[in-house]
Amino acid sequence: MIALIRLVIAFGATALTAAAPTPSLELVSRSYINPDFANPSVGPAAISLDPNLMRDSCVSTTQLVDGRVFWICRDTQILTEQDITRASFPIRSSASWSNVTILGADLQNVPPSQGQQQLTAPFSKQLLQYGNGHNGAYFPYVQNGDECSADGNQYGSSCEGAQVVLYPNAPAYVVNSPSGATFMTAFIPVVNSTNGYINPNFQCSLYFLTYNHNADPNVMPTVNLINEGFFPRGAYCYGAYGGISNPSDGYLYLYGQELSARSVGLARVPLGSYLDISKYTYYRTDGTWTSTQPTINTTSTNLIASVPNEGQGTFFYSTYIGRYVWVGQTHIGASDGVHVGVSTSQNPYGPWTTVQDIAVLPHGNPYGYTVAAHPEMSQNSQFLYVSYTAYQQVNGVSYYTMPLYLFQWSDSSKFGSN
Ligand SMILES: *[C@@H]1O[C@H](CO)[C@@H](O)[C@H](O)[C@H]1NC(C)=O
Ligand SMILES: *[C@@H]1O[C@H](CO)[C@@H](O)[C@H](O)[C@H]1NC(C)=O
Ligand SMILES: *[C@@H]1O[C@H](CO)[C@@H](O)[C@H](O)[C@H]1NC(C)=O
Repeated sequence: MIALIRLVIAFGATALTAAAPTPSLELVSRSYINPDFANPSVGPAAISLDPNLMRDSCVSTTQLVDGRVFWICRDTQILTEQDITRASFPIRSSASWSNVTILGADLQNVPPSQGQQQLTAPFSKQLLQYGNGHNGAYFPYVQNGDECSADGNQYGSSCEGAQVVLYPNAPAYVVNSPSGATFMTAFIPVVNSTNGYINPNFQCSLYFLTYNHNADPNVMPTVNLINEGFFPRGAYCYGAYGGISNPSDGYLYLYGQELSARSVGLARVPLGSYLDISKYTYYRTDGTWTSTQPTINTTSTNLIASVPNEGQGTFFYSTYIGRYVWVGQTHIGASDGVHVGVSTSQNPYGPWTTVQDIAVLPHGNPYGYTVAAHPEMSQNSQFLYVSYTAYQQVNGVSYYTMPLYLFQWSDSSKFGSN
């Protein structure tokens, strides 16, 4: 059905300039029906950074929180006097705000007095990330528990070789917006990489975040661990690969990816019931939902084979395209650059189209990662901000940077109403 609608649009456009070609099988192939960018080769719009920090892998909540962008990031090093050569040991998560204007992301000139000039120099603008998000790991470690130091610095001597890493891979999801506040939830894998071996059999923690709109703009949402093993060892870490808060049907959809990317599982829960594990149901290949939680190995029943099973990406609903969209990274480690792919679906549970590459960004040295889309930043949904993490070499040393791109969906990316 999707293919047919798209075919009609394609012929409609073609007819304006030339006689319609003989229909061929190629026109109805699944890859053909994906949207694309009108400006895939555009240069970066800005670098996004908090000048006091060096960090990688920032992602953002796909709707605004009190009119601003809420970021969470992985490895974060606190800089002394904004000097990239004086960085602390990494903490494993941090959070920031950034502003938007009616035109989109609030891009500004780099103040001459600001540090990190070696990194900002190649960019014409910056998106300033700000706030008190770096006084220790944003996602709290269980003190006196099995996760070593409470500040998230897993290299400290007190750790005795243990590394239990809480990495936010996906953004926090808005679950409720009562008057004057925003409530969010986040799902974080508790990955044990002690002695360099990443044990794939990890548990998955549920966090509850709340932001009071009257708070100082520099204050971060408070974050509370609700349950360290909300999804137990052996289950998918639903929500850690991505998710969609979907008020149109009242569900929070949560995607979990098996660690070596063999499969993706999908759970959903009514938006008001996300704290209650008994309210979660799990998608099966036959299109039904079951309350029996599968394990990462029960592939015969739990898989939605057509969900994009790729590198890091973002799920959201695009009002411009008129579809649920995944934008993320394909071909991880490709030598020619960071491949940005797209897939769409009429429903959060699919079927999703085959992922198709729509842009290739400079890879950084030696590679780039954490492609993240930021649909909340653009008021006009034909535009999409995309960031990723690249390395930048300064005096032979690699530093993390996060370039921000502004893409425009081509006019033909719009699906007709069904
Ligand atoms: C963000 O917006 C707020 C409210 O308009 C303003 O007070 C603050 O200075 C802005 N911050 C930055 C970093 O531009
Ligand atoms: C992490 O792995 C180490 C070594 O296998 C083990 O001693 C430790 O208990 C594990 N910690 C957690 C939180 O799983
Ligand atoms: C899944 O299968 C792998 C390979 O057989 C096995 O090592 C692992 O323990 C299994 N995990 C679960 C949760 O069943």
